[in-house]
Amino acid sequence: MEPLEVVEEVLKRGVAEIAAASSSEQLEQLRVSYLGRKAELPLLLRRLKELPPEQRALVGSRANEARQRLAQLLEERAAELARAELAARLARERVDATLPGDPPPYAGSLHVLSQLQRELEEIFIGLGYEVLEGPEVETVHYNFDALNHAPNHPARAETDTFYLDLENAGRPGDRLLLRTHTSPMQVRAMEERPPPLYVVIPGRVFRPDSDATHTPQFHQLEGLAVDEDLTLADLKGTLLAFARAVFGAEREVRLRPHFFPFTEPSVEVDVSCFACAGRGYRRDGSRCPLCKGEGWLEVLGAGQVDPNVFAAVPDTAANSPGYDPERLQGFAWGMGLERIAMLRHGIPDLRLFFDNDLRFLAQFR
Ligand code: DAH
Repeated sequence: MEPLEVVEEVLKRGVAEIAAASSSEQLEQLRVSYLGRKAELPLLLRRLKELPPEQRALVGSRANEARQRLAQLLEERAAELARAELAARLARERVDATLPGDPPPYAGSLHVLSQLQRELEEIFIGLGYEVLEGPEVETVHYNFDALNHAPNHPARAETDTFYLDLENAGRPGDRLLLRTHTSPMQVRAMEERPPPLYVVIPGRVFRPDSDATHTPQFHQLEGLAVDEDLTLADLKGTLLAFARAVFGAEREVRLRPHFFPFTEPSVEVDVSCFACAGRGYRRDGSRCPLCKGEGWLEVLGAGQVDPNVFAAVPDTAANSPGYDPERLQGFAWGMGLERIAMLRHGIPDLRLFFDNDLRFLAQFR
């Protein structure tokens, strides 16, 4: 081949191979094979003097041009490939810092009992009730006496109530204790406000018991309605609204006679079982494990306010005209928040509420 033909052929091949190079590495090999010490064009240029004199100038300038052209193409292609390789690497190593963690980080949330308390408050606010709170350290007067407990009522025993070694400074002979129920707020509320009265009182209560179904501290929600012409039917309607809001629109309630010192008549209130729709048995015919075949779940105690409780409420400047048992009727109830949450969520052990184990709490986020 004539030297000029060699130059043209090398240039043509080089242009094609450079354009086809698909990686920086491959391009580097091409750079060595076209521009390196032993490559054809540089070799040719070094040996120009071996050519016949009349060819030297032309072949020299063509070979030089060809070498420069290849050098330029190599540089351009190198830049192109570097850009593409960088883009590919960025795409491959992309990190989206806004994606949620896996597993998602624990964000904290209200305790299941706080959630239930707020939900219940909303239900009763919707029925026209006001939410009140009261002291956890109570007096024997409000916790027992004013609520018509007989002097020898067993709940008063040292073994059933946490007494404080302190007297109520305002009322000589009256001892302090940790309230055993939220009912003392019935009397406090009536001392502070005139009738008609519609209040609920959520809060912590205390009793010296400790096993799978009793903890020394638990929570109740008390309700009290006082007005003219209130009957047990009003109580039942109110609790039916509660039962349907909490346990499902299909629920029914049933009142069973019971005894509480501060209500007369007193009832225990059952809600039809939501696990078996009140039938007592499951689809496969086996006994419902939640209501134990009863079809009903006991959820709270209630009743009509005993006239003795009204009589224990002094007329004050704040509650005028006062609570006249001849003129007023009332109904009241007390429900345990833990009991309702256990039934609703199938929680087997009361102590889970107070262990603060995140594996338990995180189920109710
Ligand atoms: N205080 C009662 C308890 O702790 C519950 C209760 C029953 C409250 C009847 C009431 C009521 O207001 O009318 O067991």
